[in-house]
Amino acid sequence: MSTPLRDAVQLWYLHEHDVDDVQAAAYLDLLTADEVERYHRFRCESAQRQFLLARGLLRSTLSRYVPVDPQAWRFATNGHGKPFVVAPQTYGLQFNVSHTRGMVCCAITQDRDVGVDVEWLDRRVNLGIADRYFAPSEVDQLRRAPQEEQQRVFLRFWTLKESYIKARGLGLAIPLSDFWFDLPENHPPSVTVAASQNDRSDRWQFFEQEFTSKHRLAVAVEERHGRFPEVMCHRAEVCI
Ligand SMILES: CC(C)(COP(=O)(O)OP(=O)(O)OC[C@H]1O[C@@H](n2cnc3c(N)ncnc32)[C@H](O)[C@@H]1OP(=O)(O)O)[C@@H](O)C(=O)NCCC(=O)NCCS
Repeated sequence: MSTPLRDAVQLWYLHEHDVDDVQAAAYLDLLTADEVERYHRFRCESAQRQFLLARGLLRSTLSRYVPVDPQAWRFATNGHGKPFVVAPQTYGLQFNVSHTRGMVCCAITQDRDVGVDVEWLDRRVNLGIADRYFAPSEVDQLRRAPQEEQQRVFLRFWTLKESYIKARGLGLAIPLSDFWFDLPENHPPSVTVAASQNDRSDRWQFFEQEFTSKHRLAVAVEERHGRFPEVMCHRAEVCI
């Protein structure tokens, strides 16, 4: 396994507008029959394209770090839908993908849980969701922010919360009020997890990034052997 995965999370992102139809078709050739079938089942064209670009990006990115053909990777999903590598060997690889309008991304690392979420910043936001589902301290932080900042703060919480539930692999089976973030100025965000979750808050580290003014992303990554990895960001191109 190449060193870049042992002590780092390699985060690759792809702007949809960087991919033309020929390149997208080349990505389709990387997919298994099951994935192609899933691709054709999408009714919504933008969701279909995001799925294709995310799978193509994932396959070609895994093959940057391990000498395996992009077509050869086989994935299975846990009971909550989180995909993981099952063949040709697992190599300890851990990954997570996320897609939103205009961007797909994947985070890859080794032997530690990882979750990623990217959101489009111009999406319509219903702040009432926070009142209903977020933890009280998050609602409080949100309401104390200046009004013009509230959408941005909401999407910070949203991407961070998604990254955590995706790193755990449990998705929305984790109540969103069972863990809460602090967003201190000039420090990375930190999480507190309720005792009912049987998790250690201090085993998680979070990384945030805003790409242009349109996309915000958060990564949750697990500590191993007392160490957190560095998160390295790369803009991907389809090289086929
Ligand atoms: C499925 C879920 C894990 C992420 O959904 P999402 O934010 O709509 O989608 P994203 O693009 O970020 O992630 C989707 C990818 O995550 C992966 N994924 C699916 N289930 C997962 C799980 N339980 N854990 C981790 N990753 C998962 C898959 O690779 C999926 O992409 P694919 O189907 O193309 O392979 C889940 O959290 C969900 O349904 N969220 C709904 C949105 C919501 O209410 N979020 C609350 C945030 S505060």
